[in-house]
Amino acid sequence: MLEIRGVETGYGKLKILRGIDMNVGAQGIVALLGGNGTGKSTLLKAISGILPVWSGEILFDGEPIHARHPHQIVRAGLVQVTQGKDSYPGMTVEENLMLGAYARGDKAAVRGDLEKVYAFFPILKERRKQLSGLLSGGQVQMLVIGRGLMAAPKMIMLDEPSAALAPLVVLDIFKQINRIRKELGMTILIVEQNVRMALLLASYGYVIHDGRIHIEGQAEDMIHDDKVRHAYLGGTVAEAENVR
Ligand SMILES: Nc1ncnc2c1ncn2[C@@H]1O[C@H](COP(=O)(O)OP(=O)(O)OP(=O)(O)O)[C@@H](O)[C@H]1O
Ligand SMILES: [Mg+2]
Repeated sequence: MLEIRGVETGYGKLKILRGIDMNVGAQGIVALLGGNGTGKSTLLKAISGILPVWSGEILFDGEPIHARHPHQIVRAGLVQVTQGKDSYPGMTVEENLMLGAYARGDKAAVRGDLEKVYAFFPILKERRKQLSGLLSGGQVQMLVIGRGLMAAPKMIMLDEPSAALAPLVVLDIFKQINRIRKELGMTILIVEQNVRMALLLASYGYVIHDGRIHIEGQAEDMIHDDKVRHAYLGGTVAEAENVR
């Protein structure tokens, strides 16, 4: 569904990505891993059209998107879920969710999608009339995932959905991400620091290092790969195994 070929980009004269090659197949979860500051968020920005691609190409559903504007990429069905802090605290939970559907004219389908989001995250339905500024960190993360789903995407990209959240909340969010994949047939690219959890959820993984893909493979193999384990695995096994 998403093919990335030799992508290079950076900031000003500073090259961060030095030729990234990746594939994300339809209806699966792919984990993008790597240490702090290695360029994971930079790659998501390049895919979403926020950051210009210097060279290489990005194809979505076979169509080149690396020269398109962010709104065109969203319209093509590829949505980046922004970090939890990007809710509009002065708007209600439901108004925040409906922002995700602003470009859609299909009112009945939008209503149906809102109910799906509420089925994944019932707490959002309970609090739908409250200002989103009153939500907890985990609830805001649910809100931004829900807002992404309201655009009716084919694929979503999540940038560290577990960041700064308590372990039980993380577990709940990961379970819902897995349900979203199964029940909506969603394709998901997930950037995570919680590497073990991400690899349990994903079918395939990539590790970025020094601007390139350093390691890639089946998620099951990567969990047992010594290089990956020593360099990146955090969290406890017991905590992670509850995710499925
Ligand atoms: N707007 C910017 N201008 C200049 N340099 C930037 C900018 N944003 C990020 N960088 C630099 O680009 C590099 C990659 O940053 P990026 O945010 O993509 O890393 P990351 O892998 O997402 O890290 P983290 O795990 O901390 O989120 C870092 O060295 C960072 O300092
Ligand atoms: Mg980042």
